[in-house]
Amino acid sequence: MAPPQTFSLLAFTFSLLAISSTVGGYNITKILASYPDYSSFNSYLSQTKLAEEINTYPTITLLALNNDAMASFAGKRPLSVVKKALSLLTLLDYYDPESLHQISEGTTLSVTLYNNTAGNAPEYLGYVNITDLYGGQVAFGSAVSGSKLDSYFTKSIKQIPYDISVVEIDAPIIAPGILAASPANITVLLENAGCKTFAKMLAKSGVIKKYESVIKNGLTVFAPSDEAFKAKGVPDLTKLTRDEVVSLVEYHALAHYKPKGSLKSNKNKISTLATTGAGKFDLTTSTSGDDEVVLHTGIASSRLVHTVLDATPVVIFTVDNVLLPTELFGKSHSPAPAPVLSPAGGAPPAAASPSEPPTDESPKRSHTDSPTGLANSKSANAAVAVRSPSLFTALVTIAAIAVSVSRCS
Ligand SMILES: *[C@@H]1O[C@H](CO)[C@@H](O)[C@H](O)[C@H]1NC(C)=O
Ligand SMILES: *[C@@H]1O[C@H](CO)[C@@H](O)[C@H](O)[C@H]1NC(C)=O
Ligand SMILES: *[C@@H]1O[C@H](CO)[C@@H](O)[C@H](O)[C@H]1NC(C)=O
Ligand SMILES: *[C@@H]1O[C@H](CO)[C@@H](O)[C@H](O)[C@H]1NC(C)=O
Repeated sequence: MAPPQTFSLLAFTFSLLAISSTVGGYNITKILASYPDYSSFNSYLSQTKLAEEINTYPTITLLALNNDAMASFAGKRPLSVVKKALSLLTLLDYYDPESLHQISEGTTLSVTLYNNTAGNAPEYLGYVNITDLYGGQVAFGSAVSGSKLDSYFTKSIKQIPYDISVVEIDAPIIAPGILAASPANITVLLENAGCKTFAKMLAKSGVIKKYESVIKNGLTVFAPSDEAFKAKGVPDLTKLTRDEVVSLVEYHALAHYKPKGSLKSNKNKISTLATTGAGKFDLTTSTSGDDEVVLHTGIASSRLVHTVLDATPVVIFTVDNVLLPTELFGKSHSPAPAPVLSPAGGAPPAAASPSEPPTDESPKRSHTDSPTGLANSKSANAAVAVRSPSLFTALVTIAAIAVSVSRCS
């Protein structure tokens, strides 16, 4: 048996290799498909789209629950709660049964996928405590101080060193507040997340009703921050007609549930709520760096900044630029007035005729934001009292980005 130091050095080396070569190199759905005792667990990973997200991580330890444990936990709980619980069972470290029994000092904390959406209050909400008890039992619990350690390692299921390890535990880990269903007042969530301008447009245009009407089957919202509306290069939206405002606001949402992991792995054009026919008002996505998702409208790009809410089947993101559809704001070769207006206003309206032919060949731009754009400018304007810990209490990054808008003239 290798001494612990050798082990962690190896693990480190292998996870570096894994990062460079095999991100998404495994398919958790396929792995679990060989183990009928975990079919319910596997099915919930797919329904909550956690499976897609898990596949994008280079190193994962999954604490799996067998069908009996899933039935008693998930049976009568909303999917949004099940998702929170399962993301807390997804450790972003590698622990096989041997290393679980060799934890130095007998106890450690591991960050989980839940940390991405749980926010930071109380401290360590998105972490689990792993403790190697006397007598060789390994216990798990929430890392929030004062929590009980009452989930136990029961057996090994499958390891692919050092990418993914799946082990069974006997019961879900219950972190404080994790069983509470999330409130879903979209307007309030958006206001609290620093998207007051967008929340107002949503209410005033009446499009909030359309958002609410699709929730049952899924809703994804890309809400521009208040700063995004003030950024240089945003057309004067007060010049849009009522119908155009409706289209613009509808363009910022999808009629299905696409959490970050799904957006990361997306390769297709995505229809929005504004889409009326093939190729109209759609979006494409790309990734940047380790963890960034960039949306492309054909005119400019916009990054996901924060996850305000991820409660299956609803996910709400903030984005750093207003999404400008080519159908409303033209393209580089468009004879319509330039969409780029001086921030002081005074330039002519940017609205192209809505009857303009659809443009299938939206130029897909690489992400061209200048490095000075996002750099370190943060505002503390979202220090909001959030009742549910599932809401992301967020610092909204000010995106003082010069939007790279195509222009004619
Ligand atoms: C993962 O495996 C499942 C079941 O075999 C399959 O349906 C799914 O398409 C696979 N996902 C990817 C990304 O290959
Ligand atoms: C894990 O929980 C136990 C019991 O509450 C505690 O004694 C231990 O210090 C915790 N481990 C860490 C690393 O915080
Ligand atoms: C956990 O979440 C916090 C707050 O969202 C974030 O700042 C931190 O980087 C995350 N920790 C890890 C290890 O990913
Ligand atoms: C959400 O909150 C806003 C502001 O408090 C309120 O006007 C609206 O009626 C609420 N919507 C729902 C669906 O409860």
